[in-house]
Formats: sequence, C-alpha cells, structure tokens
Amino acid sequence: MKEVFRIAIDGPSGAGKSTIAKLVAKKLGIDYIDTGAMYRAVGYKMKREDVPFEECDELQAMLDATDIDFVSGDIILDGQIVNTLIRTSEVSQMASKCSALPMVREKLVEIQRNMGSRKSVIMDGRDIGTNVLKDAEYKFFLTASAEERAERRHKELIEKGEEITFEEVLRDIQARDHNDMTRALNPLRKADDALEVDSTGMDIDQVTEAILKEIK
Ligand code: DC
Repeated sequence: MKEVFRIAIDGPSGAGKSTIAKLVAKKLGIDYIDTGAMYRAVGYKMKREDVPFEECDELQAMLDATDIDFVSGDIILDGQIVNTLIRTSEVSQMASKCSALPMVREKLVEIQRNMGSRKSVIMDGRDIGTNVLKDAEYKFFLTASAEERAERRHKELIEKGEEITFEEVLRDIQARDHNDMTRALNPLRKADDALEVDSTGMDIDQVTEAILKEIK
C-alpha cells in the first residue's frame, strides 16, 4: 500500500457512508473527514444568523468569518463543538439547500482539499470522487434503496427522541436525493472509476469488509 493514500466514499443520504467510513478509518489508522457535517455546520450557522439562502454579500461575509475543523472526531464550528446541533432534520434541509450555493461549495471544497493533501484520509460526501479528490486512489459509491435508507434514519431519529414518522423521513430522503442529484454544481453522481456497493440487505460488517477487501 502507498504511504499516503485517499479514499473517497460518495452516495445518497442515509446509505451508511459515515458509519462505514469511520470503521474503515479506524481499521486503517487514518483520519475520517465527514464533508456532509461541514455543509450541515454552514446551514446551521446561516439559519442561526438569519443569512438568506442565496448568493449575496452577506453570505460571503459570513463564510469569510467561518472556521470549520475536525478535532478528535468532533466537528468544530468557530471554536464550538456542534456534533449534535447539526443532526436535526431541520439542519438536514438547511444543509441540502446551502450545498447548492457556489459560494458555500467553493469555501468548503478548498478546506476539504487542504485536509486531504498532506495525510491519508477517508472522506465521505457527494462529490468527493468526482470533484474534491478526483485523483483519490480508492473510490466507492455506496447506495441502498430509499426505503431501507429511510428505515435506518427513522430508527436513529426515534432513538434520539425526535418525533417523526417513517413517511416523513422517506419524503425527506427523497427530497434530498432530488436536490443533491439535480443541483447544477457538482451534483451527486458516481465517478466513472468508483466501485458501486449496494448495501440493501447487507449489515455494517459486510459492507466494511467489502470495502476493505478492495483496499488491501
Ligand atoms: O451526508 P449528509 O446528509 O450529512 O450531508 C448533508 C447535505 O450536504 C446533503 O444534503 C448534501 C450536502 N453535501 C454535499 O452537497 N456535498 C458533500 N460532499 C457532502 C454533503
């Protein structure tokens, strides 16, 4: 295996990218970068500061004054740990909306490329294999049926105490799939050289093994 290598995992919401990426990172002893969490942090801050969800000077000023980093697995927004604040269904929608804005993508892609330039990383998102780390050594496209993704996400949200029905979660997943796949800039798409892994009916260990098998 090369000294420094990058692994890209893309796929739709709820396909299990972050769970799998965390396990693969641990197994290989490399850093995990959750790019979705970065879009969530920006969406959360735009909402909190009442910045309009459109390209404008106010948004650029906010982005210029925004610092996002990962420290020991925590996401830090302007010095504050925001791990749980960015995991609500409201912030999911904000993240999907703000991720269509070129100003936001430009800022976050630059940070992501920096993070992936010095050391081995596994990065998950929507445009990692097609844009952020186009030359990544390993690329995967992780999918699962919308129903199975909604079932997994619904279980997670209920466990966290959110009151939400399965139908609402399914609608939310379908709306985000639509936004993510139809936006003009860097839409969700499988890179030509990515290996597709359909995790419908597979458990976490089986998916992790399928990915590790390709890397070793
Ligand atoms: O993976 P997630 O659900 O936490 O991502 C939140 C939103 O961010 C998702 O709707 C799409 C967007 N996103 C993106 O546009 N590009 C990425 N590389 C990662 C996430």
